[in-house]
Amino acid sequence: MKYRRLGKTNLRVSVIGMGTWQFGGEWGKSFTQAEVDQMFDAAREHGINLIDTAECYGPHSSEAFIGNAIARDREKWIVCTKFGHVYHGHLDRTDERSPQDAIKQLEESLKALKTDYVDLLQYHSLADHEFDNPELQQTLIHLKEQGKIRHIGNSVRGNADAHQTLQSEKAQVEVLQVIYNRLDRRPEQRDFPYAIEHDLGVLARVPLASGFLSGKYKPGAQFKQGDVRAGQKREELDRKLREVEKIAREEVPPGVPMAQWALAWCLQHPAVSAVIPGCKDVQQVISNADAAGLQIVRDDHPQAWK
Ligand SMILES: NC(=O)c1ccc[n+]([C@@H]2O[C@H](COP(=O)([O-])OP(=O)(O)OC[C@H]3O[C@@H](n4cnc5c(N)ncnc54)[C@H](OP(=O)(O)O)[C@@H]3O)[C@@H](O)[C@H]2O)c1
Repeated sequence: MKYRRLGKTNLRVSVIGMGTWQFGGEWGKSFTQAEVDQMFDAAREHGINLIDTAECYGPHSSEAFIGNAIARDREKWIVCTKFGHVYHGHLDRTDERSPQDAIKQLEESLKALKTDYVDLLQYHSLADHEFDNPELQQTLIHLKEQGKIRHIGNSVRGNADAHQTLQSEKAQVEVLQVIYNRLDRRPEQRDFPYAIEHDLGVLARVPLASGFLSGKYKPGAQFKQGDVRAGQKREELDRKLREVEKIAREEVPPGVPMAQWALAWCLQHPAVSAVIPGCKDVQQVISNADAAGLQIVRDDHPQAWK
């Protein structure tokens, strides 16, 4: 494993983290505690210390699985969670992001995680006007002063513009979480230059483009009911899968597993601190961890990012 400093937080995170939306059951698979424990054992063995979860991956259920899995060595993990929703059922949640909601959701997260602090509390896909609420921003700053959260992050909704990124200093946001992968490079335009200039940590989420950059799905692929990907529009899905086929042909070196290549590709950008691929089993945890050792050369030379 390799480790990087998470921007001004000075936390030392493994470049490969664990995304855990999957544990909430919205990816066509339910989990048992025993399976999750095995995945965390594999993560430990391979040097992963970074976990991304959220309040609404199940009703705090992803957090509860994690809380049990890391109870014996909690202090060794960098636990990142989020606030902003209440979960009601499969792919059914409401936006709840007043200052009181943030406090209540954090209390429930701490209980589920069996801990008295999280390393990073992230705004979870808020609209700009919701994020801009000064009372909400002050609430997070106060939670940090109380020691319930060590750092403040923003998991920015979509990649439409960089409004929230550019407000990071004002809101004392130290870490950005953005969608970044070989199919969606928009953060390179404004988010990453800002992050570098202001020493923000960057977590690249959806680094496998929801699993498509593993190369295992072909145009026409069907996802079973209960898998969040089943809801994607056919045309859009096939367009992405055709692009993946082209990338596989033209960019991925022979013999390199495409999922590992896709993670290493994200890590080549100097703004990116870590990737947080979502994992569904022990093999995926191990394969993703192995991407840390993969040396690849991107066609766009780092000079272009200066
Ligand atoms: N708004 C937000 O804040 C937000 C939104 C989305 C995600 N996230 C976070 O970011 C994390 C990552 O994003 P994501 O899970 O949506 O997408 P992702 O990481 O791009 O894709 C995850 C999927 O890829 C497949 N996969 C993973 N490792 C693999 C491997 N080694 N080989 C082949 N296939 C592999 C698995 O699905 P299959 O095996 O079924 O194909 C897995 O469910 C989430 O878990 C969550 O923690 C945050």
